[in-house]
Amino acid sequence: MASYQKQLLKSVLTFSSVILITAGVKAQQITIPVETETTALVLQATAGKDLNTVYLGQKLNNKADYDKVAAAYEQPNDYSVLFNSAYTPSGSRNLLEPAISVTHADGNNSLELKYVSHNLTKVDDNVSLLTIKLKDPAYNFMVTLFYKSYYKENVIEQWSEISHLEKGNVTLHKFASANINLRAGSYWLRQYHGDWAKEMRPEETQLTHGIKTLDSKLGTRADLFMPSVFMVSLDKPSTEDEGQVLFGGLEWSGNFRTDFEVDPKDHLRIISGINNYASAYQLKPGTVFKTPAFVYTLSGNGKGEASRNLQNWARNYKLLDGKGQRLTLLNNWESTYFDFNEQKLGELLKDTKKLGVDLFLLDDGWFGNQYPRNDDHAGLGDWQENRKKLPNGIAAIAKEASANGVKFGIWVEPEMINPKSELYQKHPDWVVKDPKRDEYYFRNQLVLDLSNPKVQDFVYNIIDSLFIKDPALAYIKWDCNAVIYNAYSAHLKNEQSQFYVDYVKGLYLVLQRLRAKYPEIPMMLCSGGGGRVDYGALQYFTEYWPSDNTDPLERIFIQWEYSYFYPAIASANHVTDWGRQPIKYRVDVAMMGKLGFDIVVDKLSTNDLKFCQDAITTYNSLKSMIWQGDQYRLLNPRENSVASVMYVNADKTSGVMFNYLVNNRYDEGSKAPILLKGLDAEKNYSIREINIYPGSKSPFVSERIFSGDFLMKIGFNPYVNSGRSSVIIKIDAVK
Ligand code: GLA
Repeated sequence: MASYQKQLLKSVLTFSSVILITAGVKAQQITIPVETETTALVLQATAGKDLNTVYLGQKLNNKADYDKVAAAYEQPNDYSVLFNSAYTPSGSRNLLEPAISVTHADGNNSLELKYVSHNLTKVDDNVSLLTIKLKDPAYNFMVTLFYKSYYKENVIEQWSEISHLEKGNVTLHKFASANINLRAGSYWLRQYHGDWAKEMRPEETQLTHGIKTLDSKLGTRADLFMPSVFMVSLDKPSTEDEGQVLFGGLEWSGNFRTDFEVDPKDHLRIISGINNYASAYQLKPGTVFKTPAFVYTLSGNGKGEASRNLQNWARNYKLLDGKGQRLTLLNNWESTYFDFNEQKLGELLKDTKKLGVDLFLLDDGWFGNQYPRNDDHAGLGDWQENRKKLPNGIAAIAKEASANGVKFGIWVEPEMINPKSELYQKHPDWVVKDPKRDEYYFRNQLVLDLSNPKVQDFVYNIIDSLFIKDPALAYIKWDCNAVIYNAYSAHLKNEQSQFYVDYVKGLYLVLQRLRAKYPEIPMMLCSGGGGRVDYGALQYFTEYWPSDNTDPLERIFIQWEYSYFYPAIASANHVTDWGRQPIKYRVDVAMMGKLGFDIVVDKLSTNDLKFCQDAITTYNSLKSMIWQGDQYRLLNPRENSVASVMYVNADKTSGVMFNYLVNNRYDEGSKAPILLKGLDAEKNYSIREINIYPGSKSPFVSERIFSGDFLMKIGFNPYVNSGRSSVIIKIDAVK
């Protein structure tokens, strides 16, 4: 018997002789609190061994009080006594939306999950991992629930492992990552929707009884219409600094599904996981199905605090190189599109140096020979340099880059294929397409079948061979421009319903292999804009591309919403020619994250160029604060004519405040002082305007001194108006 099977059998045998490690015991109940600095999630195994969530909210002062919570909330007529199950099984007593639903090897559809044991491990001073084993008393079918808690960040990740030792496969019909329960008088869901160039548009509504579902069925580019991130405010819509609010999201780059069920007891059940749409999964005996993590944080002080919790957690634990450096860059996409050659790139490399950024990023169009990539109709899949455009290969461009003292990066879209490609002719069976249906294209392309290990090798080798050609390659932009139509895998044969899940697992296998060999190379997660932004992928990527829409006015709104869930260091913001705002406005907006440019440097006026060069120097002096500091949203562009955001360093000695006019109507502007946040009330601060356009006069040329107390209670007016549509203020503690 394999050692894994032995282990499973052991957990079956210990079912009746439970070993408890941390437990407050009341009668036969077992109370299991998961605590962070401010939050408590309290699970409880009942006398009947059902595992319930009895509390998710602000931490109580006295741990022993958690034992009394269930009784305090007791209500009659919970018919199944499962309404607040910690992982709701289906087909037995359950009456509500399940977290898990299966058909056993013998064809039986019922499932009960009874508490077996739990174990709490301290991973380090800040991180704890609670595991809870559950088992069906009638079947050798097991689920282990995982709760990883991050004390200082007030973040919890939840996932599950499903396994069995039945005499044949078990079909998993639903397999959620988390099933959480909240209690409040009302629940207010803030969700996001979008499309290309329209990412992260919020909508906020009160949840009513029944089920509201957020989901994606797009396969790849899964967030195009809707990302999995959301907020739920309790009792009333929370504001930036007030109210109880939970932020959540699934760490998964494919189809997701989150159900919000206000149940007959007026509780909110949130069940989130991989979308089970067309995805019944055959689980062999002795194997484990591991669900992706669902991450969440709960704040008692509004959205701002919740966002800082997630940003801190991401930088400390999830985002690749979250505490590290990033490269400023010049990208050639919007300045050349597909139309370039070695000579033109040589000029752009000189521009990169002239501008003063770290890296030149060569975008789409450098590959394909039989089917050259001269537009988006051909060439994807044929990752050989186009001999006409680049007769000496990318190695020559890379060499030229280093001669100019700049680094070199390159665009790839390795999961995709144009039907017009040599690859398609050679390996039609590697392509996701249904033999019984007509091909249907998204941006003239199809998706490669990453459930197939041969395709995984191919995709891995695309990137690996780029590094072999140019060992100094310093940056990858990984794009993904198509959704999946006709989801059929030649490789999976009669296991088609595993395709959506196995695709993402295949993608992660490739990324894991790449990260094993190239642990630190910065990589941008791009998906025709923000079609794929999630923490499942961001553990392999240093940054994401929020949107192809780089109109700075639009970006203020888009970046604002992303920033609730992702830290500024991960937001790739490029200055382009989109929009009608002056260069200063465009650069200022892009500075609120990871700065890049995609403009024709050559065409900049002397003053514009000088401004950009100086702005890059200024940015380099500010970037550690923007990337690693605490972000505070001061004025919401959806509610005001001015948007204002600030970043403060950890010891509150320095801050930077970005202010923009977002309404061009007559006489709009900052009419009143804006309240600053996150400063030390006891400190005095100097205030001055920075990033001033050559020749412009600022009303704040000389430093002004204010106490932190004053700035946070009375505020400061940066005088934003139509003549000063973008203003950056630097704040520094003075002795
Ligand atoms: C996508 C990306 C763009 C650019 C093009 C290239 O649309 O979002 O930034 O790289 O592909 O084809």
